[in-house]
Formats: sequence, structure tokens, C-alpha cells
Amino acid sequence: MAVVTSKEMFKKAYEGGYAIGAFNVNNMEIIQGITEAAKETNAPVILQVSAGARKYANHTYLMKLIEAAVIETGLPICVHLDHGDTFELCKSCIDGGFSSVMIDGSHHSFEDNIKLTKQVVEYAHDHGVVVEGELGRLAGIEDAVNVSDADASYTRPEEVEEFVSRTGVDSLAIAIGTSHGAYKFKPGQKPQLRFDILEEVGRRLPNFPIVLHGASSVIPEYVKMINENGGKMPDAIGIPEDMLRQAAKMAVCKINIDSDLRLAMTATVRQYLREHPDHFDPRQYLKPARENIKELVKHKIINVLGCDGKA
Ligand code: G3H
Ligand code: 13P
Ligand code: ZN
Repeated sequence: MAVVTSKEMFKKAYEGGYAIGAFNVNNMEIIQGITEAAKETNAPVILQVSAGARKYANHTYLMKLIEAAVIETGLPICVHLDHGDTFELCKSCIDGGFSSVMIDGSHHSFEDNIKLTKQVVEYAHDHGVVVEGELGRLAGIEDAVNVSDADASYTRPEEVEEFVSRTGVDSLAIAIGTSHGAYKFKPGQKPQLRFDILEEVGRRLPNFPIVLHGASSVIPEYVKMINENGGKMPDAIGIPEDMLRQAAKMAVCKINIDSDLRLAMTATVRQYLREHPDHFDPRQYLKPARENIKELVKHKIINVLGCDGKA
């Protein structure tokens, strides 16, 4: 088995009413934790690399680690660029062996988004690579993504058919109320997603894979664990898992999760180091961190995405 595109994965996911997990990766332990979970549950998986991750870890290191995971697990693994913002970045990832790229032109005008996305699609398709586009803007702050609540906007369903037909994208990320990072809703606010928009998009684009970004649940146990071990996170609220499960049964075929992995890793390392103040071998604290990432991903695969046994 080699690195694969998401084409087959999405086709089966759409028909089967489940979604594939797209997990952000930055280093060996995260890649191992995710792919060991996928192997134990026999699940297809997407490993996604942001521009920031690529800068941090280096393209070749990440690519070789992912190739090692393909060999070790024998699973279909898709390597995806998360939030590509220029043609040049997408081209570099395509030339460097990624099987999928996202071109996020959501901050441009509709016409400019189409122009940029189409340019990436043409190059990608010539090289056997698939492309995710985005319409609508999610709120949230990450390295490469920084959109204030006021600048966020829901996807307009009336634009999706034209966008997909004029660009030729293989999947489409939409904004229905999810957002990036750990602070998705204000304390006291009731998490809500615009399922009416998702339904209308699904009706307008039959059999077409939809992507949900900003889909971490911000697992309270890990926030608590961080705060009990010297951290100081204010009230962090994410997307309830039953809502994600519902989206996965609809047109959503790819669900992006990064913040939950960050929380699991940081909480575990904080707890370990507080409990073992005299330890200084990184393997001692990275081992339980990798184990908790694996347990978290298994939980997502089985209870949220529903893609266990689908590899
Ligand atoms: O949506 C963005 C991802 O969570 C990646 O975040 O740009 O900080 O690596 P990053
Ligand atoms: P979270 O911040 O909710 O994990 O979202 C990650 C994401 O959308 C990566 O593209
Ligand atoms: Zn995202």
C-alpha cells in the first residue's frame, strides 16, 4: 500500500454515512499515535500538514515519517496539505509527494477564489492529486489561519454549484458554525451548527464530499488535566460529538481535528512532568503522550467518525 488520494475513501464514506478523520501532524509521536489507532480499528485516515507544520518539521521529514507509517500499518493513508494559501505552496506539496491539497481561497472574493482554486486544480489533476476548496469563512486563530468572529461568515448554499463546476474541486469545506482552536463558543453559549446549510449544500451537490474544519470537541477532561497540572486555560468549549456524528451521516466525508490532539498531548506531558519532577528523558513523557493520542483517535474513529473497519 502506498500513499493514496481521498477519492475512494470519500466515495465509500458518502455511501456509508460516515466520515474520514483528518488529523494534523507535526512530529513522529503524533503520526505514530494516529496511525496506530487507525491500524487497531482498521480505519482509513488522512494525515494533514499545515504550512506551519511544514515549516516546523520540514517537508521531507514529515513525508518520510508518513511513508514509514504506510509501511508499518499497511493502511490507505492520504497525505494532505491543510489550508494552502498560494498556488506555489500547493505546487511544492504536490511535487513533493502529497496526494491531496487544500487551497483555501475563502478570504478572497468569490471570483478570485474560483480563479486561484481552478489554477491549483489544473496542476493537481495533471499530477494525480485531489483538491479541497473552501467557501465561507470559519472564525478562529491558528498559525496560518486568523479570522475574527466578525469576519467569519456561513457558506452561501446558492454559490456552491457554480464554485464546484467552475473550479473542478474534488471536495468542498463549508462554514456552518464550527471554528478553529479551543475557544469555539463563549461560556454559557449553546453550541449550534447550521445543519440547514449543510442539508441545502448536500441537496445542491449530490454525491459530493463536504469537509468540516474546526471540528475538535475540546474534550473537557484534557482541559481540566492541563489546568490541574500548572496550566491556565480559560473555559474552552468545542463541537459536541453527537453533532459531528450527525454531520458524518449527512454529506460530510472529512472531519478535521487538530486542537483535541494538542490538548491530549499537552495535558499528558504536563501531568507526567508534574508527577515526575526528576525525569528528563523525553521518551518518558512522550510515550504516554503518544498513547493518549492513540486512545483519543480510536475514540474519534469509533464513536464520532464511524469509519472503523472501513480501510
Ligand atoms: O486549521 C489549522 C490547523 O489547526 C493547523 O494549525 O497552522 O497552527 O499548524 P497551525
Ligand atoms: P480544530 O482546531 O477544531 O481542531 O480544527 C482543525 C482544523 O480545522 C484543521 O484544518
Ligand atoms: Zn482548518
